[in-house]
Amino acid sequence: SETTTQSIASEQSWGSRIGLVLAMAGNAVGFGNFLRFPVQAIENGGGAFIIPYLVCLVLLGLPLLLIEWSTGRFGGKFSYHSSPFIMFKVGQKPIWAYVGVFGIFSNLVILSFYTYMESWTLAYIYHSLNGSFSSMNQEGVANFFMSYLEVSTTSTGIPFESIVFFLLCLGLNIWILSRGIQKGVELAAKIGMPILVLFGIILAYKAISLKAGVAGAVYDGIEGLNFLWTPQYDTIWNPKVWLAAAGQIFFTLSVGMGAIMAYASFVKPKEDIAGGAMAAGFMNEFVEVVLGGSILIPIAIGYFGVDKILEITRSGSLGLAFQTLPFLFSKWGPVLSVLGGTLFFGLLFFAGITSTLAMGTSIINFLRDEFKYNQHKAAIILGILILVLGLPSIFYFKEGVFGEYDYWGGTIALVVFAMFESILFAWGFGLKRGWAEITEGADVNLPRIFIPIIKYVTPLMLIVIFVAATIRPVN
Ligand code: PHE
Repeated sequence: SETTTQSIASEQSWGSRIGLVLAMAGNAVGFGNFLRFPVQAIENGGGAFIIPYLVCLVLLGLPLLLIEWSTGRFGGKFSYHSSPFIMFKVGQKPIWAYVGVFGIFSNLVILSFYTYMESWTLAYIYHSLNGSFSSMNQEGVANFFMSYLEVSTTSTGIPFESIVFFLLCLGLNIWILSRGIQKGVELAAKIGMPILVLFGIILAYKAISLKAGVAGAVYDGIEGLNFLWTPQYDTIWNPKVWLAAAGQIFFTLSVGMGAIMAYASFVKPKEDIAGGAMAAGFMNEFVEVVLGGSILIPIAIGYFGVDKILEITRSGSLGLAFQTLPFLFSKWGPVLSVLGGTLFFGLLFFAGITSTLAMGTSIINFLRDEFKYNQHKAAIILGILILVLGLPSIFYFKEGVFGEYDYWGGTIALVVFAMFESILFAWGFGLKRGWAEITEGADVNLPRIFIPIIKYVTPLMLIVIFVAATIRPVN
């Protein structure tokens, strides 16, 4: 179109379709797939969780993916690449720019603690390779994590090692981001995603083939799969399970914060976004329910059984991954324990970095739209912002800053943003134009059932979830 500014568009666009889909899948695939999903599933009764989860995928997840991909590409036609500018262009009123700012806010907040978590995976790869965990008992591994975060009673005050790995991890992210979309983000996804899937398949195979009585396991690994995949229809009426399922769909697909929108703004008008959204969405679901469901759950249930595992996950998924798993791996013998730890934390690292690059891109895009910075300068400024915002979660971990970030950035802001963006798309922009945007360039025949879903079902469900989530007491 006439309005497309060539300069930014040609420098900043996806090099290939496979690169785009892998980057979008990498955006979605994150700690949510391997840590959050298994624990949500365990806490919500395994087989009881799967049906609401899949229903929310179709009624909430896929529609929001289509909305974000199409509004993103629409904004890109006017050389806008960040949610405040894109939503302003879509809604034509200044108020929508402020709604878009929510997206920038949640990206900043989530990115600050997510980068910190990502740095733990680097430290754990290092210590797995180094064999640090092999001589520790269960308590030793648990304490290792506490002192790594300097939240143990014997702490000396400054979590030196955590800071080093945090700076390393942040620097790596900023370096990749400063290289731009094709040479940075897209290349990282093309390298990281295949490795992640490979590591995931190896670990899933190992987890499922755990045998009771071998290598310290108490139950067969396959018990974990039975637990997850035996549907329980009676829980269909439990609102708590539905809220958890909806929350997981949001988080795992990266919708509700404009991160998908930012990536989609670099997609060319002729590109099949309906097909791309479905491909990336299903890749995320494969990695989540097939791989993510076959690693942590079979291992945890293989060693602890269904009853005891609930006690362990009650304190969250972090404990299971960072305080328990390295100890369980050490039962696999000297070689396999190094391999298990390296593959598991390696997988988490690639899952993490392809997500932090997406959050980083949405903020960089905003800095570029607003202040006309170049990519390099915007990346440096992002680095400084995350350094400043990330340090509180390092120094005040004990006081729960991390949890506050997660609640406000990771739960409330996502729902608010998603609610407004779906109302804007279906009712402000109008679904006639909206559907034309979604299907422009489409090779696939998207079922028309998505029209009434996007118009009525998705916004309504989001309003209900917003009300339910805000009346949940903050603790
Ligand atoms: N989807 C990511 C995960 O599953 C988290 C994320 C949310 C990443 C929003 C980018 C943007 O962990």
